[in-house]
Amino acid sequence: MEDTEKIVEEAVKEAEAASDSRALYEVKMKFLGRTGKVTALLKGMREIAAELRPAFGKKVNELREALEAKFAAREESLKRKEMEEKLAGENLDVTMPGRRRAAGALHPVTRVKNQLIDIFAGMGFEVYEGPEIESDYYNFTALNTPADHPARDMQDTFYVTEEFLLRTQTSAGQIRVMEHKKPPIKVLSPGRVFRSDDDATHSPMFHQMEGLVVDKGITLCDLQGMLDEFARVMFSETSKTRLRPSYFPFTEPSVEVDVSCAACGGKGCSLCKGTGWIEVLGAGMVNRRVLENCGIDPEEYTGFAFGMGIERIAMLKYGINNIKLLTENDVRFLKQFQE
Ligand code: DAH
Repeated sequence: MEDTEKIVEEAVKEAEAASDSRALYEVKMKFLGRTGKVTALLKGMREIAAELRPAFGKKVNELREALEAKFAAREESLKRKEMEEKLAGENLDVTMPGRRRAAGALHPVTRVKNQLIDIFAGMGFEVYEGPEIESDYYNFTALNTPADHPARDMQDTFYVTEEFLLRTQTSAGQIRVMEHKKPPIKVLSPGRVFRSDDDATHSPMFHQMEGLVVDKGITLCDLQGMLDEFARVMFSETSKTRLRPSYFPFTEPSVEVDVSCAACGGKGCSLCKGTGWIEVLGAGMVNRRVLENCGIDPEEYTGFAFGMGIERIAMLKYGINNIKLLTENDVRFLKQFQE
């Protein structure tokens, strides 16, 4: 009985002394655990005279319950203290703004390409994308530009082999479309083209958008009507187009198309070099030889075609003065096109 009293005193003292819940747990195990001191008292009952056992057992059980209550109370106060310390240490400011995630944006060339597709898809054009490596036939010969034709010098070509080259113009796609599709045809063909050419407004790789319409009774007026709509949506509500005579082997007659300068409204400024007009694309009525090359009867059908540089349109639209900015991918430049 005396041992019991001493053990309880000892346990209470150690529990008070435990400075955190971990230390308290160890003290608890030391007394109440499976090999603890109080548990040992119960196990030692056999050594006690039989008549004293019930009283002893009752006493030990009471002590154990009292100790358990003591430990529970001590544990709760330690845990509360630990939680208060933890909260004070974390100092969480729930009003602090979150971290912003930078969102990506479309490249200006992709953006203009998508706008062009939107404009012409609205007029019923389908999209066809031809291969970037083309045969000489599709890029030149079928477009009425046979070997030794002087117009081949208009474009400096990267040849892969004698027969194959990196296409210099999306016009090559016109032939592929007309070989497989009979009129009425209304196709838009965007894509990369390649030329050995390199300065502030020319790059060895750039993008073009080709348009082709073939049907009965198509005229140059249809072309200008569609291009007026394109200029109005792409540049400004008051933009107009002007056709000037030109030459391309695959069109007859051929034209160069100017758009009224959106910067000065046509009065003349540094962008349009005082003329009020900016050249944006080449076009014309599809040459009858080209139709014949694709098995389309030029007596029955006529068509127009146009081709424009997407970088050039982007540069005019956004006031970009060097084509290299469009391939360097400097985020300070690209960020300006975020919506
Ligand atoms: N392929 C020409 C070029 O790269 C642009 C062009 C002119 C396309 C007249 C056409 C066209 O379809 O009819 O310079």
